[in-house]
Parts: sequence; C-alpha cells; structure tokens
Amino acid sequence: MTAVADRYAALVRAGELRPDADQERAVAVLDRLAQRLAASTAKGSIVWRLAGRKEPPPPGAYLWGGVGRGKSMLMDLAFETIDHHPKRRVHFHEFMLEVHERLRAERVKEAGDPIPPVAKALAAEAKLLCFDEMVINNSADAMILSRLFSQLLEAGVTVITTSNRPPRDLYLGGLNRELFLPFIDLVERELDVVPLNGPTDYRLERLGGLPTWHVPNGPETTRALSEAFFRLTDYPVEDRAKVPTEELQVPGGRVLHVPKSLKGVAVFSFRRLCGEPRGAQDYLTIARHFHTVIVVGIPKLGPENRSEAARFVTLIDALYEHKVKLLAAADAEPEALYVAGDGAFEFERTASRLIEMQSADYLALGHGEA
Ligand SMILES: Nc1ncnc2c1ncn2[C@@H]1O[C@H](COP(=O)(O)OP(=O)(O)OP(=O)(O)O)[C@@H](O)[C@H]1O
Ligand SMILES: [Mg+2]
Repeated sequence: MTAVADRYAALVRAGELRPDADQERAVAVLDRLAQRLAASTAKGSIVWRLAGRKEPPPPGAYLWGGVGRGKSMLMDLAFETIDHHPKRRVHFHEFMLEVHERLRAERVKEAGDPIPPVAKALAAEAKLLCFDEMVINNSADAMILSRLFSQLLEAGVTVITTSNRPPRDLYLGGLNRELFLPFIDLVERELDVVPLNGPTDYRLERLGGLPTWHVPNGPETTRALSEAFFRLTDYPVEDRAKVPTEELQVPGGRVLHVPKSLKGVAVFSFRRLCGEPRGAQDYLTIARHFHTVIVVGIPKLGPENRSEAARFVTLIDALYEHKVKLLAAADAEPEALYVAGDGAFEFERTASRLIEMQSADYLALGHGEA
C-alpha cells in the first residue's frame, strides 16, 4: 500500500468516510498510479539507474460519475499524497481560460503553430496535473484538446481528472464534434477510466435535508450556515478563522475577492456580490468555479435597491444555469424579497427559481450539468 490507499483506509477507519466499493476501486487505480510514478522517478532503483533507463510515467486517470460521489475528494487525496513535483491542481475551466490566453500570446509572435510551445511550457510547470470538473461545452476548447493533451502526455505529464460524464459523452451534441473524437480516443486509450457511481450522493447527504434558505439574518442563521460550510468542506471548526480566501480572475481583467473559498464552496456577503457594480461575467465566473455558494446578509429589497435587485437576478440566473447549490441568509422568503420597485415583476421568476433551488431534485443535480 502507498500513502493514497493508507490515507483512504485511515479516513474510513476513523469514520470520516463511509466504506464505498466504487471508491475502493478508484483508490486502487490511484494507488497503482502513485506507485508507477514513484518507480518512474526511480530514486532508489540502482538497477534502473545503471541501465540509464527510467520507467515512463503513467499517463493518468479519469474519474467520472454522478455528483457527490467523492471524485474530487479522491483526486485531492491523491494530489496531496503523491510525491511528484512540480504538481498542480486546477479547475478545468480555469485551466482552459489560461490555455487560450497563452495561445493568444503565442499567436502574436507569429512563430507558427502555437500549441507546441504552450504544451511545452505547461509540461515544464507541472509533471502531475489534476483537473477538477472536466466539461467541454465550447468548440474553442474542443478543437485544441486532442493536440494539447497528446503533447502534454508525450512530454511525460501525468493527468488526473474528474468529470460527471464518461469520456464518450464529453461535448455531446457539440459543434464539429467529429473533430473532438480524437480526444475521446486519447483519453480512453491512455488514461485509466474509472467510474464512481455508487448509490450515495455524499454531498446531499451532508446537507442532510437541512434548509438552504434561512430567514432572518442573525446569529441563529449564521450558526446554521457556518455549520453547513464546515460539513461541506470537512474543515475543522476550530480552524474557522483560517479558511482561505481567493482572488478569482474574471475574464476582462477584473478580480473578485472571495472571502471564504474551500473545496468548491464559497461564502460571499450580499453587499459584496450585489452592492458593487458587477455583471454577468462576474456571476458566471462564480457559477463555473463553485459547486456551492453561500450568500449571507441578503436584506429585504425596496424601490431604492433596484440596482442590487437587478444584479441579484443576474446572479441567480447564473447560479441556476450552472446548477450551483445556493445556501442563503435573508431577511425574507424569496417571494417576499423584492415586491415593489423596478423589475419587481420580473423578480417573480427569480423567486420561483430560488424556491426550485431549495428542492431535493435541484440539489441532486450535478454542477454545470445541462
Ligand atoms: N465515502 C464517503 N463517506 C462520507 N463522505 C464522503 C465520502 N466520499 C465523499 N464524501 C464527501 O462528500 C462530499 C462530496 O464529495 P466530492 O466533492 O468529492 O464529490 P464529487 O464526486 O466531486 O461531486 P461533483 O461531481 O459534484 O463535483 C465531500 O464533502 C466529501 O468529503
Ligand atoms: Mg467534484
């Protein structure tokens, strides 16, 4: 056993994780990967070194399955324990934004095909690349992925990725999908494809049927939401003062400060999100980046808050479209939140969405699922 399997077994023994057959299979795959990576580094292997040979690094693993099955948890476990440097863990969407940025910079140089230098730079920066939430929904990504990834693997990069879909269903129905099929072939050929589709959505279980919309703002609500946050992130409550912040890059160059950001869960105040001039780009960035968003301090809105109300509508649309789970602290139920003022009529749709977003059916949906 290596550290990956050890740590998983220890968490199960400690009762922090429930035994799960699919997860055990995935752990075995990740464990083998860790062993092969250790062998490829071949620190202790005199025979290999004398022969001047190294085992090639394994290409990696693709963990896929329904929401809350523990894919990100297992990938993080592997990422933390595998001793293979430099390594990088990144949200897939964010990674692709960065790739396009780098490709643009290369094209400006007019030095030919921009993909090889970008792949080379990425490979030099990370020998182990972990992607959370691989989803392909635009042709710009679809068209470059096969070449980019084959060059990364060729350069010896090991890739671990999570996705809600099996490789065959990536970019389903997308424009020019036939040009994307080589990427699917590459994934199926090179990566260990591991389904994680046990019966339990552990995230939903952790929410435990608790209410997601809390009224009114106040100490009782704060306590309930902070408990939900710590349950969702497994963060020790005694470390609550140390929850990391994050600076989120919004396309177009803006930066959004996230006061609390951990394991795909973010906490914002209503004032920060909707009290400042922000727009759809900011909200879409949040919706793509986080599977769960907690918004605190939502006041009852009146005619003088029409800008805040309009921004809140845009925020909820983005969260709803990306099936982000919303937990909120507000001074009124959704249908009583904004009843008088510009756009109050349109707000009814937002209220209805807010109600739907509290339903078990909505909460069971995967982040970013169509
Ligand atoms: N075996 C388990 N026992 C108890 N809790 C678990 C178990 N596996 C995962 N969890 C917890 O369930 C929550 C959801 O897991 P995780 O975020 O890894 O799901 P996921 O498969 O990545 O879901 P998504 O597709 O929505 O990203 C996490 O808080 C995680 O720690
Ligand atoms: Mg996940």
